Formats: sequence, C-alpha cells, structure tokens
Amino acid sequence: ISLKPYNTFGLNAHAKYFVEVESIQDLKEVLSWDAYPDKFILGGGSNMLLTKDLDCLVIHLALKGIEIIDQDEDEVLVKAYAGENWHQFVLWCLEHNFGGIENLSLIPGNVGTAPIQNIGAYGVELKDVFESCEALNIKSKTVETFTKDACHFGYRESVFKQDKKHSHVIVSTTLRLSKHQHQLHTEYGAITKELEAMGITDPTIQDISKAVIAIRESKLPNPKEIGNSGSFFKNPVIANALFEQLKINFPDIPSYVVSPNEVKVPAGWLIEKSGFKGKTFNNYGVHKKQALVLVNYGDAKGSDILNLAKLIQKTIQQIFGITIETEVNII
Ligand code: EPU
Repeated sequence: ISLKPYNTFGLNAHAKYFVEVESIQDLKEVLSWDAYPDKFILGGGSNMLLTKDLDCLVIHLALKGIEIIDQDEDEVLVKAYAGENWHQFVLWCLEHNFGGIENLSLIPGNVGTAPIQNIGAYGVELKDVFESCEALNIKSKTVETFTKDACHFGYRESVFKQDKKHSHVIVSTTLRLSKHQHQLHTEYGAITKELEAMGITDPTIQDISKAVIAIRESKLPNPKEIGNSGSFFKNPVIANALFEQLKINFPDIPSYVVSPNEVKVPAGWLIEKSGFKGKTFNNYGVHKKQALVLVNYGDAKGSDILNLAKLIQKTIQQIFGITIETEVNII
C-alpha cells in the first residue's frame, strides 16, 4: 500500500505489507509473526523522510486513549496512548485547563513519538513535563516503564534514538501537568510579540496556545497543504572559538549560549545565508518563510529531498566549517 497518507512529507513510498494495531495485545501478537521477519514501526510519520519503498511489514501504531491516572490539589498525571494525535491531546489538556504543554501546540505527530526526539518549541521541551512512558520490549514482549531519568533526554534526543532505538516501542506517555497555578513560558520573543499583537497582558494557557498556533501558522507550512517534517536539521552547537572567528566575516550571526564554552547557532540562519531559503527544484525545495524546513510541493521523491539535504550540509560545511545534522529520520 502507499504510505503517502501516513507520512507528513506526503511521499509516495510503498509498504509491502501493512497492519494497524489498536492495543498492546495486538502489537505483541503482530511482533511475533515470524512469517514477516523484517518489521517497521510507524507512529505519526511526522519526523521521517522515506527515501525508498519498505520491503517489509509496516506496523502502524493506532493505540488510543487519554486517562487521568492520579492527581492532587495542584497537579495531575495524564496518560495518553501512542496513537493519539499530539495536537489533539494538547487541546484536550487545554479544555481541562491542564497546563504545561500549551507552548507545544500544533506540533505534528503522535503522543508516542513525542519522547523519542523530546519535542520542543518556544521555550518548552517535553522533558519539562514528562513523568514517564511505557515501552514494549520487542524481544521479551513485556511492557517496561521509563522514568524521565531513564530516557536521557537532550536537545531533540533520548534513549529511544540511541540504545533503545530498535529494541523498544513506546506505547504510552504520562505527563505531570498543573491544575491552576500554571507556570507560563512567555519569554520567547515571538510569543511576547504575538501576545502584544493580540492585546493580551495577563495570558491564560489557552491564550499562549493561540499565540503559538498563530506563530506556527505564519512561518511553518501546514503538512496537509505542503508536505514537510518540520525542522529538517538540528541547530548546531559550536565552540566559542569558532563562533568568534565566524563573527569576523558574519557580524550578524545569531547565537544562544548553551554552556560556558559553546553556543547554538540557528541552522535556519546558516541555510538562509547560504542562499537556499525559498529555493525550489521542480517539485521540492526549501520553505520560503523558514529555511530549516524542506518541503514537497507535489510528487517529489524522498531521494531527491535527501540529495538536497546533503547539498545544504556540504555547502554549510564549506562556508562556515559547521556540520549540521539531520533532525528527521532518514529511511
Ligand atoms: N532564522 C533565519 N532564517 C530562517 C529561519 C530562522 O535567519 O529562515 C534565524 C533567525 O535568526 C531566527 C532564528 O533563526 O531568529 C530562530 O528561528 P525560529 O524561532 O523559527 O526557530 P528555529 O531555531 O529555526 C526551533 C525548533 C523548531 C521550533 C522553534 C521555536 C529546532 C531544530 N527547531 O527552530 O522546532 O518550533 O525553534 O521554538 O530546534 C521542529 O523541531 O520540527 C521545529 C519546528
């Protein structure tokens, strides 16, 4: 079957076999089908570039459900299953006035894939509200609980991108959210500006969500209209020494301090400065409003987009001496 509806890049790669699972029990059973030795687990399909057909069994995770598993006066533990759409889950939390993930509104993908790359935007990362997640051990077929510490979260990083990449499948995620005394994160410049434009001085979590949605809609292409996977690259972290050297030729290079001897540089700026912003090649290219996003305008091939990504990486290496890594999984 065509995987086009199952990946936000809208790439027309095909799966030889395809099955959808709605429960942990189903997942265990399908994983033990020996007739299909090669299996591929598919979540929300929002962070991958399919460069070829998948000559194997694709298992689409469709486990659904949202539950309050514990609460006290101030906080609530909310568990959501892997197949829930992330943004729908954020809206559910906002309806219940549960705070903590309003800044993560409108991020494409599913609840089960959010911990893998520790999704983050506008001053908040998943790890800030993460309590635990459950993952099925593919070999033993047992469900294991991963605490926040066990997940080894970093910037767009976790143990599920490293050691546990091929051994575990996340089936649910539990977050610790606030019930009334919400900790608002409005320090990100774009949010401050947007709230001002909306005429809001004392924002609620719902207002922050609206501001984030407005910002994202103004910059990021809607995958339903233009295929994409959000940021294609990670923002590189470089040594202060290199940064100081670059400032001589590029005095306007932006940066954020991440440690006493390193800064993070926006990859979007590097790509724009290299002349790629808005560049279009037949039916794919670099987004016009945010250079960090590669887009599929129609029937592009994943391998063409991968070649463009490699060209961008090579060019940035040549101009700035900086290696930028892909954020998206290349398949
Ligand atoms: N910039 C440019 N040109 C561009 C894009 C960005 O010069 O075309 C520069 C500007 O200096 C701008 C700065 O980059 O001030 C930061 O841009 P922006 O606020 O759009 O954020 P970003 O660093 O490009 C990151 C995340 C996004 C997240 C935003 C907001 C990564 C890889 N990306 O992008 O996450 O929404 O911050 O917090 O860290 C995603 O992961 O898919 C994603 C969209």
